[in-house]
Amino acid sequence: MTIRNSVEGPGEGTQYMEISLEINGTTRRLDVEPGVTLLDALRERLDITGPKKGCDRGQCGACTVHVDGRPVLSCLTLAAAVRRPVTTVEGLSTEDELHPVQQAFVEQDALQCGFCTAGQVMSAVAAVRQDVEDVREFMSGNLCRCSAYPNIVAAVEQVKKADATV
Ligand code: FES
Ligand code: FES
Repeated sequence: MTIRNSVEGPGEGTQYMEISLEINGTTRRLDVEPGVTLLDALRERLDITGPKKGCDRGQCGACTVHVDGRPVLSCLTLAAAVRRPVTTVEGLSTEDELHPVQQAFVEQDALQCGFCTAGQVMSAVAAVRQDVEDVREFMSGNLCRCSAYPNIVAAVEQVKKADATV
């Protein structure tokens, strides 16, 4: 990791760190200020806009991504502290096929405006992988202003029942 100061312009004197992130299977290098969150690095520096900025303080779950396969709130995670592979909703599907959890969300009509959906899907994938009993409790950190909760839970239960590999 390299740290350097900007030499001219409005941000003169600001410290930047060169970091490397593995995102959806691709290594990306970028310069960030030490306090930049993973969410801002993804959305504003790398144009990966699946994770959404809802509250920006850990209260809505819209920014959920996986780090090393575990769901994390990217608005509360410093980009420079991430050392393990990151997966966003963009990394779940292939060009031709939705991920089974995404497909179940479509089939169960588990979204309305869609703002929360990327975060919901990332938590749902973790719920299926961990075979959690209480889906509602596991996903209680993912808020949905449209109250699509029953359909979201139904989507997760559908994938669990299908015993699909996710
Ligand atoms: S934007 Fe991260 S929890 Fe709301
Ligand atoms: S579908 Fe609108 S916020 Fe969840």
